[in-house]
Amino acid sequence: MERLYSATKPTGKLTLGNYIGAIKNWKEMQEKYSSIFCVADLHSLTINIDKDELNENIYNQFATFIAAGLDPEKNIIYCQSQVKEHAELGWIMNCLTYFGEASRMTQFKDHKQKEKNVSVGLFAYPMLMAADILLYNTNVVPVGVDQMQHIEICRDIAMRFNSRYKETFVIPRGIVPKTGAKIMGLLDPTKKMAKSGDNDNDVIYIEDDDETIMKKFKRAVTDSLNRIKYCEEQPGVSNLLTIYATMKNIKIEDAEKHFEGCGYGELKKQTAQSVIDELSPIRKKIFELKQNKKYLEELMEKGAEKARKIARETIKKVYENVGLVNID
Ligand code: TYM
Repeated sequence: MERLYSATKPTGKLTLGNYIGAIKNWKEMQEKYSSIFCVADLHSLTINIDKDELNENIYNQFATFIAAGLDPEKNIIYCQSQVKEHAELGWIMNCLTYFGEASRMTQFKDHKQKEKNVSVGLFAYPMLMAADILLYNTNVVPVGVDQMQHIEICRDIAMRFNSRYKETFVIPRGIVPKTGAKIMGLLDPTKKMAKSGDNDNDVIYIEDDDETIMKKFKRAVTDSLNRIKYCEEQPGVSNLLTIYATMKNIKIEDAEKHFEGCGYGELKKQTAQSVIDELSPIRKKIFELKQNKKYLEELMEKGAEKARKIARETIKKVYENVGLVNID
């Protein structure tokens, strides 16, 4: 069975974009792959995040994975910081990456443009992400479109390592879902729906209550063309159609047919309802799980223990292949 690896970064609350672009697909793929799902908490320190907020986000994301149907027995589900090999391999990845290629990462360039002080950690984040993936002999990395550039650099570094030293790493391939690889904001459908958005009404959070979800969709920006069609001139309508199609597990064309003759009010209402139907039971389960912190921590430890075993083996191999002293 091939190995699947993916992660979310607890810099904020998980969004409908994270759900559609990542978690929903993981749930289906866990049957086909030997899967590892990670709360990539070390990545959150790349921005200046409040310690209590970070801690809460970590528990929330871990609970969301379980609540969304990822099986902690069958898969490995863990928090990155519990497995120190990530930091160890991250350093080695930094040393293999050229300054120029890291500077070309568009996510970093965007942050640098918007913010005055960006950390070295943020610059080095794709290399830590490469370490996450490569530690586990990963074959496939299911992500949204925004992460593909990071998978590409991971592949480049892994190939460089293999040719400079010795064949060590499996070269992973990134995969994006056919529908929903980039869910857009509700108020600005030309920009990705993001955890770190400026306006809460632009984003649906997995933990939003039913009423809030309905209200946010009712405010979603559409256009004045008065037709329900998936096309470039209608980014808002196309986004709603995409969300509806993924929630109902149908093709975009079938969603278009379903809404033939309907007005935008109906499109918004039914899309909101499809999201509510899917997220509401997950939200209840997250709430239940969070009541039992001890149980969550037991699951975290079990997952970390399984992850450490694989990661340790990789690090030993890497140390040996680069010429470091390899004593455990
Ligand atoms: P993060 O937390 O930003 O996003 C988690 C996953 O959600 C996807 N995603 C979206 N998909 C569709 N539409 C959107 N609007 C949307 N927003 C986010 C992302 O593409 C991602 O798949 N660096 C990663 C976390 C990470 C990781 C890894 C991923 C750390 N190590 C190793 C894969 C493998 C990140 O910031 O994800």
